[in-house]
Amino acid sequence: MSIEIEQPRNDVAMPVQDRMISGLTIRVREPDDCAAVAEIMALPKVSWGTHWMPFASREQTRQWIAGMPEGSIQTVALLEGKLVGTAGIIALKGRRNHVGAIWMAVHDEFQNRGIGSALMAALIDAADNWLNLRRLELTVYVDNDAGVALYKKFGFQIEGTRRQDTFRGGAFVDAFAMARLNEG
Ligand SMILES: CC(C)(COP(=O)(O)OP(=O)(O)OC[C@H]1O[C@@H](n2cnc3c(N)ncnc32)[C@H](O)[C@@H]1OP(=O)(O)O)[C@@H](O)C(=O)NCCC(=O)NCCS
Repeated sequence: MSIEIEQPRNDVAMPVQDRMISGLTIRVREPDDCAAVAEIMALPKVSWGTHWMPFASREQTRQWIAGMPEGSIQTVALLEGKLVGTAGIIALKGRRNHVGAIWMAVHDEFQNRGIGSALMAALIDAADNWLNLRRLELTVYVDNDAGVALYKKFGFQIEGTRRQDTFRGGAFVDAFAMARLNEG
């Protein structure tokens, strides 16, 4: 069996927020955002695309936020003041301190409008220009077409497939390991 590794695409220009969205703000996540973030994390499409359990409680969300390691960046997207997405980078430690692990979730009713792209543009700016991270990595289920399209747009490449990664909706689902190197 052979695994096809995609060739590096260092020639690809970075799409820095290529669609301006009127009324959209990206800012740091504050403790007061917990209830709105919990609402997003409990939505069906978000559970489908992430490791989160359906019916995740506000307390689970609070503990997750509180447990983020020091050096992590946590952001939220606000559309006309409503919290519609959240994303972040967990900066790894020790000999992997050049690596950031990325996660993101956009409210079910606000997906496919460019909000995930705006969040990713902000994270990549933070990673490249402020944290000096060399490698950004994430996992995404193989059938999450919007997620895979978004990550490829920002220069992430598929490095391999994690078989039967997660139990979801009564069946195991595979996940792609994706990463983006900043070799600039
Ligand atoms: C994945 C997710 C973060 C993407 O956020 P989003 O706001 O919907 O993303 P955007 O609208 O910025 O971009 C989506 C891209 O996918 C494309 N896309 C959407 N559906 C697609 C499909 N079925 N096939 C291929 N591409 C698709 C869109 O055209 C867009 O690309 P473009 O900007 O080049 O037009 C969001 O859908 C989400 O939170 N899903 C649930 C949780 C989740 O899956 N989190 C990620 C875990 S890795």
